[in-house]
Amino acid sequence: MQINIFQSSKALHQAIANKIIQSVKTKPGSVLGLSTGSSPVETYTLLGRDHKENGTDYHRIVTFNLDEYVGLKGSHQQSYRYFMNIHLFNQLNIPLEQTHVPIGVGDLESNCEEYERQIQAAGGIDLQLLGIGINGHIGFNEPGTSFESSTHVAPLLKETIEANGRFFETTEEVPTKAVTMGIKTIMETREIILLAYGSHKAAAVRDMVNGPVTEAVPASILQKHAHVTLYLDEEAAALL
Ligand code: GLP
Repeated sequence: MQINIFQSSKALHQAIANKIIQSVKTKPGSVLGLSTGSSPVETYTLLGRDHKENGTDYHRIVTFNLDEYVGLKGSHQQSYRYFMNIHLFNQLNIPLEQTHVPIGVGDLESNCEEYERQIQAAGGIDLQLLGIGINGHIGFNEPGTSFESSTHVAPLLKETIEANGRFFETTEEVPTKAVTMGIKTIMETREIILLAYGSHKAAAVRDMVNGPVTEAVPASILQKHAHVTLYLDEEAAALL
């Protein structure tokens, strides 16, 4: 694991945005893996700004998001599809049909199989952006998820529902399940960049980097990936 520590989250977002822009310019048909949550919002703003000001071209880029809530249609304001359209896709010149977010309604089992098939058909993911949950989850792979998992329906733990409750009016509205790329799906990506900032992420970052590789800390499997770079601020890196 390569670890980059930044003095401010602003510098961190700029570095990640630069990394993504560089990948897109080097390989205009790149397949990008994308994430949601609050962590990447500023990075996406920078990508939108760069596209507007410098014309970085996304018309051949293909994207796959990590996860989606079960029960929310893409038109729902708290769905991850809606989030991605607003924060990123609508700010770039990427055709929406080249953007993929798991579908959390309908026949979920077949949606999961189809998602894996689509990733394979696109040639696999070149660069995967990840955040990390306070309990060490990646995507919506909660502690205890098999390292062999592919895209699947995952139950969300109480702490994740509470943490994500801030995006909903009440905690009761937070879906209790999600469709998520599995740990195996994430490990098959060619390169991973993970961003984390704030003291609330410090323990999860410590366990990911220095703890044993265990299904109790899903992100710890990243120690076994050949090409991972962490983008941290000093608070998130404080326990390393
Ligand atoms: C959610 C997402 C994860 C994300 C995590 C952290 O649970 N499924 O992909 O990494 O939240 O979110 P935040 O960046 O808001 O702390």
